[in-house]
Amino acid sequence: MQSKAVLLKIFLLLLILAIIYILTNHAESNKDEIKANHVKASLPLHELMTSNKPLPTQQKITTKQPLPSQQKMTTKQPLPKIYAIVTMPLLTKKDLQTKKYRTSTTEKIEERMSEFITGLQNTLNHECVYRVHFLYNESNVVDYVKAHVKINTTKLVFNRVEDPRKHVTYFDFAYEKLQGEIAMYTPIDVYPGEGFRLINKDDLISKKLMYILTRHGKQEKNCDMGNISNNCNRKRYFGSHDSYIFVPNGPLSPEIRKALDYWSIVWGQENIAIHTFRTLGHFKVTNPCEVLFVYHIHCSNLRDSTRYRINTSANSGMAPPTNTLT
Ligand SMILES: *[C@@H]1O[C@H](CO)[C@@H](O)[C@H](O)[C@H]1NC(C)=O
Ligand SMILES: *[C@@H]1O[C@H](CO)[C@@H](O)[C@H](O)[C@H]1NC(C)=O
Ligand SMILES: *[C@@H]1O[C@H](CO)[C@@H](O)[C@H](O)[C@H]1NC(C)=O
Ligand SMILES: *[C@@H]1O[C@H](CO)[C@@H](O)[C@H](O)[C@H]1NC(C)=O
Repeated sequence: MQSKAVLLKIFLLLLILAIIYILTNHAESNKDEIKANHVKASLPLHELMTSNKPLPTQQKITTKQPLPSQQKMTTKQPLPKIYAIVTMPLLTKKDLQTKKYRTSTTEKIEERMSEFITGLQNTLNHECVYRVHFLYNESNVVDYVKAHVKINTTKLVFNRVEDPRKHVTYFDFAYEKLQGEIAMYTPIDVYPGEGFRLINKDDLISKKLMYILTRHGKQEKNCDMGNISNNCNRKRYFGSHDSYIFVPNGPLSPEIRKALDYWSIVWGQENIAIHTFRTLGHFKVTNPCEVLFVYHIHCSNLRDSTRYRINTSANSGMAPPTNTLT
């Protein structure tokens, strides 16, 4: 009789344990589901749309029936918001008296100014360009730009800087004013074209990428730049670069600032920049110009004849054309 009662007690105890086990497990899986839904809801739309890697909980969600809104998300990506940085000189017929342009003509000067404005206008009209920060140190160039640029002017912001012709100025500006944003320094006569929708800010940050692009050329108003200046070609590449795309994150070191303290028009400055951002900045510097197209307008062929080369074998970097963004 006594052993029977003991057995009954053990049986009841096991039964209670089993019930507790089933109940708690059920609660846990419910909690997971709630958590998964919560994560999904609180993620910024942007991340959901652009992330290639499945989110920790996304797999679970997608294996269930797809949400009606999900299909839309994968086909329509948000545009990257690019903050362009540009500058230009105001050339007038007075410049014909300088050594730089002595052999040129008033018509060439005017054509060159018109190319600057076209380049700036094309940059302003690009769908991925959110702002264009125009750097200047003398107000007459601002007056000129205001008089000649008529479209999409709400994107245009003027910023006074100490010396807009120094290469370091663009990076100083980006690191001071555009932390955490996609910055793009581009020469005024080089404007963005196809491919820019593919730029992913999260990748630029997490992989510490810097794209230093080689330009393309195409039919422009006064000439076909496709034949004149089109160096994004694995065979024709010789180390010429134009536009810089990166996300400023943290400070710009004094060593980098010192290395980039030169005029932006000298030859070889981009090779020094590639070398500097690789070795001192620890960026992964690449040239995906086969995917991101920038175009050069220089039909006037007006050039500062006093340009000289500054790079040496000790500070020259190269970045051959590639078709990959990461
Ligand atoms: C102004 O910029 C937008 C892109 O932000 C572009 O779609 C539009 O075509 C531009 N306007 C003109 C007149 O080009
Ligand atoms: C602007 O910068 C140039 C050099 O890039 C310099 O010659 C000029 O004096 C500067 N102007 C002002 C007002 O600081
Ligand atoms: C360059 O011009 C030549 C003729 O002058 C033409 O045959 C060729 O297709 C052009 N190349 C490019 C890349 O535009
Ligand atoms: C400067 O850079 C160019 C690439 O644009 C390279 O071909 C050249 O060798 C470099 N100059 C020196 C002295 O290393």
